[in-house]
Amino acid sequence: MDYHSEFRRSIDHPDDFWREQADQIDWFEPPKTIWQPTDNGHGQWFPDGVLNSSDVALDANIRAGRGNQTALIYDSPVTNTKRSYTYSELTDAVARFAGALKDRGISKGDRVIIYMPMIPEAAIAMLGCARIGAIHSVVFGGFAAHELAVRIDDAKPKAILTASCGIEITRVIEYMPLVNKAIAQAVHKPECCIVYQRPQAQADMQAGQDFDWQELVASAQPADPVPVKSTDPLYILYTSGTTGKPKGVVRDNGGHAVALNYSMKLVYDANPGDIYWAASDVGWVVGHSYIVYAPLFAGCTTILYEGKPVKTPDSGAFWRVVQDHGVNLLFTAPTAFRAVRKEDPEADQLSRYNIKSLKRIFLAGERLDPPTYEWLKEHTNLPILDHWWQTETGWAICCNPVGIEMMATKPGSATMPSPGYNVQVVNPNGSQMPAGEQGQIAVKLPLPPGCLMTIWGDDERFRKSYLEPIPGFYSSGDGGFVDEDGYVFIMGRTDDVINVAGHRLSTGEMEEVVASHPAIAECCVVGAHDDLKGQVPVGLVLIKDGATIDHDELEDELVEMVRDKIGAIACFRRAMVVERLPKTRSGKILRRVIRQIADGEEYAIPSTIDDPAILEEISQQFRS
Ligand code: COA
Ligand code: AMP
Repeated sequence: MDYHSEFRRSIDHPDDFWREQADQIDWFEPPKTIWQPTDNGHGQWFPDGVLNSSDVALDANIRAGRGNQTALIYDSPVTNTKRSYTYSELTDAVARFAGALKDRGISKGDRVIIYMPMIPEAAIAMLGCARIGAIHSVVFGGFAAHELAVRIDDAKPKAILTASCGIEITRVIEYMPLVNKAIAQAVHKPECCIVYQRPQAQADMQAGQDFDWQELVASAQPADPVPVKSTDPLYILYTSGTTGKPKGVVRDNGGHAVALNYSMKLVYDANPGDIYWAASDVGWVVGHSYIVYAPLFAGCTTILYEGKPVKTPDSGAFWRVVQDHGVNLLFTAPTAFRAVRKEDPEADQLSRYNIKSLKRIFLAGERLDPPTYEWLKEHTNLPILDHWWQTETGWAICCNPVGIEMMATKPGSATMPSPGYNVQVVNPNGSQMPAGEQGQIAVKLPLPPGCLMTIWGDDERFRKSYLEPIPGFYSSGDGGFVDEDGYVFIMGRTDDVINVAGHRLSTGEMEEVVASHPAIAECCVVGAHDDLKGQVPVGLVLIKDGATIDHDELEDELVEMVRDKIGAIACFRRAMVVERLPKTRSGKILRRVIRQIADGEEYAIPSTIDDPAILEEISQQFRS
């Protein structure tokens, strides 16, 4: 089958198309109905199917004769550890942990927050929850206590699973003080914490509240996978929206398993037994989909890497992992290779390693800038494949469909819509833009399996954020264009979401933190271009009349506040005091113009501006 026929079939005959894909995974009860609309304006995939995602990821591989194949390799340069699990061993570890969860009274439908570093127990925790039908919500370890508290109050978990510490390049980060601070701040109080003690730091445990992971597992009986409906939630993953409150993206079990299994072939051309490495973190959607679930659904070996592209110990780290484990397919964010290239512009490190096993390199999470694409292409001589997707979709909206037909690549383009995604570039009324002209990128409903079902506890926000802006379409929040050959180019967000080192963050959320400083009258945070991280936030702040504070001191305080409330990953390091903010006559801050000024781009003075002189003043401040 060629790409275009496959794509057409997925759009013209979605029921037949997805029924065939559903047949590729193990169900307890295969679905009879493939698609059913619901009254939130969207719909459900495989509503009468019954399965268990941990069964599909683990037990099904044992049934297929892969029990002795390696399922997961843990490689941790920060602790100098390598460990691997066969499918049988991983199934056993997950079943035992699931038993431990049951012993703590956790059952189907309960929410469980996982706040853990990149250790195998994080994946075991996710799969253990899935095994008993509990809904996991992984919170990235780099988020501060306040962010964790917000998620605790929204998801209302029965338990928190954590570890005593995470290990960063320069420091060991103790997690228990953060967890305790978050619980103290939250209104909802989880019943217990289960803590994995690591030798690098021991957590202080509160009797009756905190339980030792290894002790619970030692006394637990393995639990079988429980049958869940295809439409029962598998997980909630919070992502940044335009306001301070993150959105809890809800993923189902059945659609997710079918779509991710399909994507492994379509997007990555991964086959059972392939060594697949997504260098990301389980706290992000890339980690959910392509460190934990999809490689296991597809019978591959997945790599869980606790380290960075540079400084653990050097810029050869990625090539070393490829060599040591015979990685076939590597997926990471462009920022990781920008960091490698910065330290090793001539790719000298590459010659120290044998990377012959590597067939393709995949990039996503942010725009793949042409210089990074060219550098990778020149030095590795491998196909470098960009693909575009979001936490909301869980798998690629656009990709080079190498599993069906390898298309020529175009630098700057994520190639073609994946089968199932009827991607269109539209203006706000939903009318299609001509080829080559920029507009909003939208997907004609219905979305394919695997995409978000709703926002946890907030159907209204789901409709308002994604379905109402362009009736009949899913609104992606990204802008871009399709060229005459049908290639899709993603040019960036059209809202207040920014992307810092592949981490999705909300400038609105940062503004809320900055505005809470007693000396601040008004503020605005925009994402400015950064050569390494893609974007970094910059604040423009207006001091209250009568407030006397040294500007450098104020900047230090604001930087500390954002670090404390959101986390170090926000990389908020610059706050400039301004006399006024550029606004329209109706009082709207002109963020786009500020961003253009910050990036040193040409900008047109908007006709609606209240006071044009302010733009030159701000421009001078950015240049100074
Ligand atoms: N737990 C606690 N803190 C964390 C953390 C975690 N899991 N991850 C990052 N941080 C902290 C870092 O220690 C750093 O703190 P500092 O300001 O005190 O030094 C801060 O957050 C910023 O970290 P980071 O964004 O990682 O910047 P960096 O300069 O240390 O490293 C890169 C730059 C490019 C090497 C790094 O961002 C990277 O590996 N990016 C790949 C991104 C990625 O995989 N994204 C996932 C989407 S696919
Ligand atoms: P996240 O939900 O964290 O995965 O972030 C999703 C956002 O990252 C998208 O809406 C895009 O703005 C951006 N993004 C992801 N992949 C790409 C890509 N390949 N090209 C351009 N932008 C991307």
